[in-house]
Amino acid sequence: MMDWTDRHCRSFHRLLTKKGHLYTEMINAGAIIYGDVGRHLDFDQEQHHLVLQLGGSEPQDLAKAAKIAQDWGYDQIDLNCGCPSERVQRGSFGACLMAEPQLVADCVKAMKDAVSIPVSVKHRLGLDDMNPHLEQDYQFVLDFMAQVSEAGASQLTIHARNAVLKGLSPKENRMIPPLRYDIAKRLRSDLQQHFPLTKVLLNGGLDTNQSIANHWDDFDGFMIGRAAYHTPAILLGWDEMILSQGRNFGYFLNDQTWLEIQRGIIHNIQAWLVQCQLAQRPFYLAAITRHILGLAHGLGGARLWRQQLSDHRLLSEVKTADDIEMFFTQACRELRIFSDENDEDDLIHRYES
Ligand SMILES: Cc1cc2nc3c(=O)[nH]c(=O)nc-3n(C[C@H](O)[C@H](O)[C@H](O)COP(=O)(O)O)c2cc1C
Repeated sequence: MMDWTDRHCRSFHRLLTKKGHLYTEMINAGAIIYGDVGRHLDFDQEQHHLVLQLGGSEPQDLAKAAKIAQDWGYDQIDLNCGCPSERVQRGSFGACLMAEPQLVADCVKAMKDAVSIPVSVKHRLGLDDMNPHLEQDYQFVLDFMAQVSEAGASQLTIHARNAVLKGLSPKENRMIPPLRYDIAKRLRSDLQQHFPLTKVLLNGGLDTNQSIANHWDDFDGFMIGRAAYHTPAILLGWDEMILSQGRNFGYFLNDQTWLEIQRGIIHNIQAWLVQCQLAQRPFYLAAITRHILGLAHGLGGARLWRQQLSDHRLLSEVKTADDIEMFFTQACRELRIFSDENDEDDLIHRYES
């Protein structure tokens, strides 16, 4: 997610789940070919399985960017056909690509020819006022999925809403068009008649582990956006949920797990400090702590913890490895982690961002 799932956010999320796949922000293919590759692509090795999401519509550019990413160590390339922003439309990519299935197929094929890692596509249920309950509009998205599968995409993630290209902001596009999980489920089952190996993932509005488990048997996987960011403690249940095929989806946030996560956070930040020092780059602790604020959501003392983690004056005084350790120990002091197994309903609230 743009501006959210940067390298620091992903390193933090990897502390919470070892099995979940992590995705980068969408990065324009041109930025990778012509820009500062390291700045866009560098990541910590713990982040595997790591997916680079690309934006673009020029098959050869996408192929070049995908090859660079494979060489950089990425595990998968995902093409964005779901972003409705006007800026992205001006670049002729994102959701508006759904209107050009042949071009998307060409993009997928060009990338597949250039790399040996999997190539996937993220898309919507349709465009503008299409109604996937109508046969013709349903067929439109099914044909799109079939064409990109034929071209070599091994995974499709359906954000189960239409994209409205004119008149709605990206934020409104994540809230206003209705979610239609039933259509997404039917699409998966129809697609698999012809492409049994293509994995179909569900995305959109899944905000608790219970809501993921409810759909477990109907999809091959799930992509979680805002809830993962705002209430990252849900990630603590994912490894067990994957191992148990969706049967166990509780999660544990107790004193012990909190301490382990805190140690991991401190370790990550100290490692980043060293990298900044070696590269003679400025070290901004706020660039890391901003992703962590939701971890204490629902716990006693969370407000004070958030205040400290976003207090720029306090953060700017943290300059050494010892400072980092002290800062976090201090910030966590007032937190109260009540029970061994927190009730998910107590911790999770719906967020709109
Ligand atoms: C701040 C923000 C940035 C996003 N950036 C991207 C992006 O770069 N690529 C993408 O495919 N989706 C992006 N999305 C959309 C999410 O991936 C997801 O499809 C959408 O939020 C619906 O899923 P959710 O209800 O689980 O959040 C973004 C969402 C937000 C809130």
